[in-house]
Amino acid sequence: MGTEVHVSRANELNVEAEARIYRTLRHFWHPVAYAQDLVDAPIGFTLCGRDIVVVRMEGGVVAFDDLCTHRGTKLSLGQVLDNCLLECPYHGWRYDKNGDLAVVPARPDLASRLNARLRKYPVEEWLGMIWVALVDEPYFPLPDYPQWKEPEYHHVAVPSVDWACSAPRRVENYTDYSHFPILHDKTLGDRMQPEVPPHEVWREENRLENRQREGTWIPVPIDTAAWGGKDLPPDPYIRFAGDWRVFMPLTCVLNLLFEDGNRYHLLFHPTPIGPKKIRNFTIASRDFGDPDNKDKELGEFVTMVYDQDQPIVESQRPEELPEDLSEEIHLKGVDTFSIDYRRWLLALADELEA
Ligand code: FES
Ligand SMILES: [Fe+2]
Repeated sequence: MGTEVHVSRANELNVEAEARIYRTLRHFWHPVAYAQDLVDAPIGFTLCGRDIVVVRMEGGVVAFDDLCTHRGTKLSLGQVLDNCLLECPYHGWRYDKNGDLAVVPARPDLASRLNARLRKYPVEEWLGMIWVALVDEPYFPLPDYPQWKEPEYHHVAVPSVDWACSAPRRVENYTDYSHFPILHDKTLGDRMQPEVPPHEVWREENRLENRQREGTWIPVPIDTAAWGGKDLPPDPYIRFAGDWRVFMPLTCVLNLLFEDGNRYHLLFHPTPIGPKKIRNFTIASRDFGDPDNKDKELGEFVTMVYDQDQPIVESQRPEELPEDLSEEIHLKGVDTFSIDYRRWLLALADELEA
């Protein structure tokens, strides 16, 4: 197998590239909460540096700037009254589902004359998550995940955790074959068999697709109980094939097919809180095992893998993907997905944040 080797200048920070890619992310949908966690109380989130609040009112979900028009208090500290008014915790100003000021307790006569309105954002409840966009017309539609509706699957909203890294670095980590056998030895691979299976990478509509060649498998030694609930074969290895796609720029869908036909899927999105801070949102799904044990078996497995990745990804420098592809060394046939991902990300940055 040939290699493409460039002079590595990985530690040379390209500040402008970092800023441009980060700014591009505000043109897309991002999950800010699991739908199951948004009940009666508002939830605050910092999305690409902007404080927003999501809240259920009158049967729908709305998203506003998390900022009371009176004295700038966070409305996410407040409460929802009668399922129709968001009340600020400081002086009790109340806003309706359109963001219009409806009640001023200290001067009830003034509310309708103040013309105070909260800024609203596009919001959707989709695939068990609350998605928000900071622009009125997000560049790409929400991602597909057909397993969500299929009855043979059960799902877990994996507890979300914050990492100190950039979102694209995390996507690269999520879609990187060659770290499985090393960093995830005995969990997702075998360090004695580190070669990357043959695979194809191509663009399709808003997705970067990766398909592993049929009949090739990733072996994992099963001297661990990591794959909880899986019927283990009389063989020292469990084998799976991994296909994935990124709904550009950040939503990853992994499809893992086991040799015995069982299926396991992950819908993952690293939502940017700031340029170097993300929150990991994951829906994990499988068509095997005990649904009553899903939080333990499915959720804990994902968390264990994430715990292995976190210190590695947080250590990478520069934190953002370098704009100049020659700044890191890429292996042909190994880092293909990563290179194509960077190219597309940079093309989006050129188009949206020139
Ligand atoms: S700051 Fe919100 S009511 Fe005064
Ligand atoms: Fe990993």
